[in-house]
Amino acid sequence: MDLLKEKYGWGNAPDETAGPYILKCRKFVENDEAFSNFRRDFDYGKILSGDPKIVGDIAIDSIKKFNQFNFLLDNLDEIKRNDKVGNPYLYEYDQLGEINPSTLKYFNTIVEIKPLIGDYVTKKIVEIGGGYGGLCRIFDAFYDFEEYIIIDLPDAIKLAEKYLNYFPKLNGKVKYISCEEFSNYDSIENVDLFIADSSIAECNLQTQNLYRDKIAKNSKHIYVAWNTHHLPNGNSEKLNFIDGFGDDFLYQDILLDGSVHIIYIKKENVN
Ligand SMILES: C[S@@+](CC[C@H](N)C(=O)[O-])C[C@H]1O[C@@H](n2cnc3c(N)ncnc32)[C@H](O)[C@@H]1O
Repeated sequence: MDLLKEKYGWGNAPDETAGPYILKCRKFVENDEAFSNFRRDFDYGKILSGDPKIVGDIAIDSIKKFNQFNFLLDNLDEIKRNDKVGNPYLYEYDQLGEINPSTLKYFNTIVEIKPLIGDYVTKKIVEIGGGYGGLCRIFDAFYDFEEYIIIDLPDAIKLAEKYLNYFPKLNGKVKYISCEEFSNYDSIENVDLFIADSSIAECNLQTQNLYRDKIAKNSKHIYVAWNTHHLPNGNSEKLNFIDGFGDDFLYQDILLDGSVHIIYIKKENVN
């Protein structure tokens, strides 16, 4: 746990769940049998992919509010490809058939990002805390990017690579960087879209600032889902994160549903 918090900066990680999650990431990478069921694992599911059915219902409501339900229906088979690997729990949803709630959540993230980027061609994307790569896989279904960089903890990033290797269309387009390796980087430049969904907010202030200053400030569009408002420092850390961008950026902070704030940040003068 000290390693996760002090070395890797996962400061707001819940002690009782973060340690078992990392041990499971390691196991899934080493053991193909365990990997074949990783998306229904109890310990892993406390951090990722273990969402109950209601999370899918909330995603569907949001997709409807954005008027994208028909878009979901039209692309259902493609979206469900995420669930072919790792044997996730599937639930029946009206008009959709069986699908995993986290997969619906990732599609909703695509829907939420759309108003930020519009028709802008996002060639280079960086995602902080991409988990097993579920959002990256869905992104690939809808956007023709050239490079998608995922940064995550050392054991988590290896799991993302193992999962995404099942989708050959992504071969050669995804770059996997552990946060340990990233500490040797000066910066990542010329980024079109920076994504951090329920990840940067869980890091300590120093790590939040590091990702903002070395990557997000070199990005044209920034989408962050800030999921730590319930914690004592959640709001002040979010304001610190936003303030650090300075005057060249426009930002919007939106409370959609529940307690997660969506922050849209955009470099000024980007079409
Ligand atoms: C709650 S999960 C969210 C995962 C994914 N974005 C999603 O919404 O399903 C938090 C993620 O942050 C990752 N993480 C923790 N500390 C990190 C760090 N210092 N740098 C990058 N990622 C980190 C975890 O491994 C995990 O993948």
